[in-house]
Amino acid sequence: VTIDDQTIQRGPQGATHQVAEGDIPTLTTQQGTPVADDQNTYKAGARGPTLLEDFHFREKIFHFDHERIPERVVHARGYGAHGFFELTDSLGDLTTASVLSKVGERVPAFVRFSTVAGNKGSFDLARDVRGFAVKLYTEQGNWDLVGNNIPVFFIQDAIKFPDMVHAVKEEPDRGFPQAQSAHDNFWDFASLSPETVHMLLWIMSDRAIPRSFRFMEGFGVHSFRLIDAQGKSTYVKFHWKPKQGLQSVVWNEALKINGADPDFHRRDLWDAITSGNYPEWELGVQLFDDEFADKFDFDILDATKLIPEEILPIRRIGRLVLDRVVDNFFAETEQVAFCTQNVVPGIGFTNDPLLQGRNFSYLDTQTKRLGGPNFTHIPINAPKCPFHNFQQDGHMAMHNPKGRANYEPNSWGAGPRENPKTGYNANAEQIDGPKTRERGERFADHYSQARQFFISQTQPEQTHIKNAFVFELSKCENPAIRSRVVSHLLNVDETLAKGVAEGLRLEKLPQAAPPARTPITNLPP
Ligand code: HEM
Repeated sequence: VTIDDQTIQRGPQGATHQVAEGDIPTLTTQQGTPVADDQNTYKAGARGPTLLEDFHFREKIFHFDHERIPERVVHARGYGAHGFFELTDSLGDLTTASVLSKVGERVPAFVRFSTVAGNKGSFDLARDVRGFAVKLYTEQGNWDLVGNNIPVFFIQDAIKFPDMVHAVKEEPDRGFPQAQSAHDNFWDFASLSPETVHMLLWIMSDRAIPRSFRFMEGFGVHSFRLIDAQGKSTYVKFHWKPKQGLQSVVWNEALKINGADPDFHRRDLWDAITSGNYPEWELGVQLFDDEFADKFDFDILDATKLIPEEILPIRRIGRLVLDRVVDNFFAETEQVAFCTQNVVPGIGFTNDPLLQGRNFSYLDTQTKRLGGPNFTHIPINAPKCPFHNFQQDGHMAMHNPKGRANYEPNSWGAGPRENPKTGYNANAEQIDGPKTRERGERFADHYSQARQFFISQTQPEQTHIKNAFVFELSKCENPAIRSRVVSHLLNVDETLAKGVAEGLRLEKLPQAAPPARTPITNLPP
């Protein structure tokens, strides 16, 4: 309804009142009580104090006072859109997941892109990883592929995540800087945790300043599993390949864009979708078995490693199209809750110690962020397939069981029951080992893939990486930390290390860091 000037009435001081009439609905309180005046509180006389009795005023202010919820502890700044996923090549021989078996069927999707380190109000072109979180509302339940635009991660074990995030975010005494890679805490942590080195190379590369969300790749990062009807599993790495191509800006452009339009990426996505220019990604998979995995020097459970596409080409099996913007940013983009443990029958986990920790973390944080255990009832999070269980009560319960039965087994014939035929089964992995905090031997090489990534870059891209190290490290005040970073780079590429040392005017080149173990104990002086 467009409100035209006919509905305007003038109050005594020239105040504008728009009134309900015709198709224009009457404003009500949350209780449905019609509101006669939304401009003036009840007062004891025109110049008297406001009356506590004014329930409409109190309800309005009370609700406003409670508008904010905690922002995400990481990935606070994000932008979401709706779309669909359509399978083009069936994996039905490897998995019971219908979303990966039924060619041609469209599954509704919601995607949220994000930066990691900055607060909700930070700028879009920060040098940072981008989140690429996908929720697919399949007929077997919601499958969340909570990925990033970089195929590897900073750390190998989830127990290091709180330290890593503390070091990445603003320093606790001064409350700055917002830019993750431009301060002592970040470089201190990174240089003392050599497992970060591969990721550091990606973060200093052009991948960390994408031109827009539409021109980014996405990665599930971890090795996951596909599980067939017999319980046999196949390893899988998931990839999103943008049909638009892969594009980044250069640092100089990123800085200008941040100043001129901090909302550059979200505006780009909104404009593209609302003008009918729908962005599209292909879903790719790398499929392999234990025999293949055992051939590598590194462990496929290590999230700081990737499987080179030259060795294991990507099979493209479907497409993701974003064709609808949200109706309401808060209701959808802010309240959406992705979780790595949201999987469907036919998709399973590996023992990647980062993934295992993530499976705990998301549900836990969302219970706080979204105010209790019933955030799955929020429309953006609710499955679009039928769902039934005996969970009840808690804050804002919308789907309590109906009738007498709120448990099973029960004799009332009421309510849902388990289904051994269609229900979720993990693969029957044989697990036997001593209780230990040790990491496997094959988690120890932190440099080879960093080197491979660096030498795979073109000359200008290599220069960008070097310049990024110099720029970001020049914000790091402690010379010992700068040197320590260079000592790792010497194990990656000597020209890069020397170029960074020169750019930083280091007095002398440090010794190369010792071949990595985690945690390292024998740092170079
Ligand atoms: C949020 C990706 C590692 C904890 C997110 C989001 C993405 C993401 C994309 C944003 C979700 C959204 O848009 O709402 C990743 C990737 C990781 C990784 C790809 C490594 C491969 C971890 C680890 C932990 C963790 C190791 C903790 C042990 C969180 C938390 C949130 C989050 C607590 C906020 C969730 C919320 O409030 O809704 N992550 N993450 N992440 N991640 Fe991760």
